Amino acid sequence: MKTILCIGAGYVGGPTMAVIAKQCPDCRVVVVDINAERISQWQSETLPIYEPGLTEIVHDVVNKNLFFSTEIGENIEKADIIFVSVNTPTKTFGEGAGRAADLQYWEKTARQILTHSKSDKIVVEKSTLPVRTAQAMERILNNGGNGVHFEVLSNPEFLAEGTAIRDLLHPDRILIGGHDTETGRNAVQSLVDIYAHWIPRERILTTNLWSSELSKLVANAFLAQRISSINSVSAICEATEADVTEVSAAIGSDSRIGNKFIHASVGFGGSCFQKDILNLVYLCEHYGLTEIADYWHQVVLMNHYQKRRFVNRMIKTMFNTVVDKRIAIFGFAFKANTGDTRESPAIAICKQLLEERAHLIVSDPKAIDNARRELGDVADGTVDYEVDPYVAAADAHAIAIVTEWQQYQSLDYERIYKAMVKPAFIFDGRNILDHKALHAIGFNVYPLGKPELAHL
Ligand SMILES: NC(=O)c1ccc[n+]([C@@H]2O[C@H](COP(=O)([O-])OP(=O)(O)OC[C@H]3O[C@@H](n4cnc5c(N)ncnc54)[C@H](O)[C@@H]3O)[C@@H](O)[C@H]2O)c1
Repeated sequence: MKTILCIGAGYVGGPTMAVIAKQCPDCRVVVVDINAERISQWQSETLPIYEPGLTEIVHDVVNKNLFFSTEIGENIEKADIIFVSVNTPTKTFGEGAGRAADLQYWEKTARQILTHSKSDKIVVEKSTLPVRTAQAMERILNNGGNGVHFEVLSNPEFLAEGTAIRDLLHPDRILIGGHDTETGRNAVQSLVDIYAHWIPRERILTTNLWSSELSKLVANAFLAQRISSINSVSAICEATEADVTEVSAAIGSDSRIGNKFIHASVGFGGSCFQKDILNLVYLCEHYGLTEIADYWHQVVLMNHYQKRRFVNRMIKTMFNTVVDKRIAIFGFAFKANTGDTRESPAIAICKQLLEERAHLIVSDPKAIDNARRELGDVADGTVDYEVDPYVAAADAHAIAIVTEWQQYQSLDYERIYKAMVKPAFIFDGRNILDHKALHAIGFNVYPLGKPELAHL
């Protein structure tokens, strides 16, 4: 029986290993983390992350062939294949601060692997990393003088939070990068054999190491670029009375463009897009490719602009002041179906409104605790937290839809309208509501990238 170890029990490590354990009953899968609280949550009824379908899968395999542990050294020693899925945030200090990847967790993991390995290992980069990290990893591991051979592979993860289980069960592709040497090819084959338990062989792509590492950064850069592109168009729409949804449908029906990721919004969020683009930008700068760095950096700048633009429109619409006005924020998670708030557009939107001294009532079905943590250090203005959207909107001057939770579409807006201060405003930052129906109730409706429907 093969023993697979994953170091890092986060949004990627936990779900990915649960699916591998489920699909490969002939493998023993262990997930370790330095965070003991996270490990005990994985072993409990309440998992540390919310992801549709995850609880059921974990329940099926936990303590059968999936195990969570804080015993890192002992499990490294026993493992044949070690996935490394630790966090690789943007560096906040020193050279490259604000752009480069902070590889401290990564390097500590490499050294732990070296210390505890007594037999040859395959080490798999699951985290998203700068190109050529595998080389640094190999230099640390293979110069340890302990006679152990380490083969490093790149196997980036493409799952999206909110649909992680579906993405893991039915991925568009699996990407595996390795060296074109005998040991490299054997290692790639071992990893292919694991995924081949449930993924058709033609969907498992094998490349050289650097293409694989780079492809993950480029995939996220392209996805985010589409969002920033359509968001830039939403600003033109608001200025010209064009409708961004109509423009999206018109361009998206061109098969060369396609209709995915061209939905205008308050901006992209999540722990990856911004971090990975900045990582790409830093890499370009490192190689002296200034024009390329500037080109991709603009995707991030456009995203910041979109969030500011949304708030500026709110302020302008509400008679140029929001001081002491109650504003209900519907949704704080960076997208629907997750409780994750990392880099959520809600953070910048709330902070800007609080600087304007608004009184916010933040509502979200899954992300209230994370929202409280994200806004904990904000000094100006006031924030209350309320899961129930009806309570959040009572006595409010405005509602801002920031996350596209489906339940916001089926609320009783007549009831909400009656309880609000008049004139009542709705700013739909995700374009998920029935704007005409809201207007008929009496709301002044401001969709994103579309003509307003106002009574004023
Ligand atoms: N979140 C996503 O949707 C997503 C998707 C694709 C790729 N990725 C990439 O996957 C990686 C992990 O992302 P995540 O969202 O799961 O991060 P996360 O912060 O949720 O999880 C990382 C975990 O690693 C643990 N860790 C850090 N150092 C450790 C060490 N030395 N030993 C043991 N455990 C250690 C942390 O305690 C944490 O629990 C990142 O590189 C990210 O860019 C994330």
